[in-house]
Amino acid sequence: MSTAWLITMGLALGSVLWAELVRDSYHALAHVWSPLYRLHAWHHRVFRPDLSVVSTEIYQKAHWYNDVPESLVMLSCGLILPMGIWLWQGSWSWALAASLGMFYTFSFLVAAIARGLGIPSADEITDLTHRPGPFLTPPTPWRVNRTYHWRHHFDSQNAYFCGTLTLVDKFLGTALALKGKKIAVTGASGSLGMALLSELHGHGAKVIALTSGDRPLSLIVNGETVPIKTEQWTVGQEKQLLELFKDIDILVINHGVNVHQQRTAIAIEEAYEVNTFSAWRMLELFLQTVKTNKDIATKEVWINTSEAEVNPAFSPLYELSKRALGDLITMRRLDAPCVIRKLILGPFKSNLNPVGILSANWVAKEIVKAARRDTRNIIVTINPLTWLLFPLKELMVSSYFRLFTRR
Ligand SMILES: NC(=O)c1ccc[n+]([C@@H]2O[C@H](COP(=O)([O-])OP(=O)(O)OC[C@H]3O[C@@H](n4cnc5c(N)ncnc54)[C@H](OP(=O)(O)O)[C@@H]3O)[C@@H](O)[C@H]2O)c1
Repeated sequence: MSTAWLITMGLALGSVLWAELVRDSYHALAHVWSPLYRLHAWHHRVFRPDLSVVSTEIYQKAHWYNDVPESLVMLSCGLILPMGIWLWQGSWSWALAASLGMFYTFSFLVAAIARGLGIPSADEITDLTHRPGPFLTPPTPWRVNRTYHWRHHFDSQNAYFCGTLTLVDKFLGTALALKGKKIAVTGASGSLGMALLSELHGHGAKVIALTSGDRPLSLIVNGETVPIKTEQWTVGQEKQLLELFKDIDILVINHGVNVHQQRTAIAIEEAYEVNTFSAWRMLELFLQTVKTNKDIATKEVWINTSEAEVNPAFSPLYELSKRALGDLITMRRLDAPCVIRKLILGPFKSNLNPVGILSANWVAKEIVKAARRDTRNIIVTINPLTWLLFPLKELMVSSYFRLFTRR
């Protein structure tokens, strides 16, 4: 394959990517700049939560006021690439390759005009992210599916701006909205539990502490004590949390125990019961509550499995129990009804690890930052091996499970 051909391909694909970046940036801008929002607001008037259309007249108008101007902006910005290449290199073939994004955009313009004119079936063929019907998969991480886009209309209009690829949302940290979400965190009184509750509260979430302790918990916000809703639970009695889980958007399964160097039967039971089986039972209970389109779109579970999934923690039972949990999650999320994130954390200072190097507050900040970019495997560590080994292990184990298990 010649270099010139590779450059031609790169320019063609790059121009399509550029068109998508322009569209999503225009959309994000429309939500912060009122002259543009006045046009874009028509798009938000069109749909009911089941994605049925409020009125044909509004549907058609929305295309003239929103989709057509959006495509024209994409077309104008699309001109920059071929013109720049031609002025810089004087090559017609490369300039033509860099025009592919404009042809791609032109198809959107034609589709928007067809929908604006009310041409029969134009909406069914060309407006794929707004089709009604049951959601078949949770929001996808890289490509925008119906479930992903539904959240922009009915979860938060200040997030989920992307139309085809999710890159702009990942860049802006708008791939997950936390404001107003009900988020429950287990292991709440521990170092990371408190740090996560505080960080999530800072992002506008309504936090709920799930603790095995018997005292109500509170946060310190700007020097003031803020009491938070606290629910008590005990390992083995997870079922009692079902009613609460129905009302929760995001469950963070964070509790854990380290039996350090012990290897007695009691230590084995404690490590597996707390770290593996109670976490797995909670996950299953929470998944039972995912029933409606809204649940599929907005409910999530974050599970703290630790980098002990791939690296030694110098505590064999801790490693074994966390690896077992990690593998169960890998298997379970092959067909989970909602998003499941893994938290793969390096050593931070806490009761469980008094010699941890990182601080729980910093780790919590990084977790939330990555979740807002819709990272499904959130790695926070200073160990470079984890960054290398974990994705490899996850890919191999999930492929193995996909091959040798059935839905
Ligand atoms: N520290 C690290 O270096 C590190 C690294 C990677 C991953 N992790 C993971 O991060 C999570 C949080 O740990 P942490 O470091 O913040 O430790 P921590 O301060 O000891 O917090 C762990 C919390 O888990 C809950 N817990 C412990 N035993 C329990 C039991 N038998 N039943 C129910 N809940 C129990 C307790 O919270 P309540 O009393 O509120 O229930 C406890 O405060 C754990 O899953 C841990 O494995 C830690």
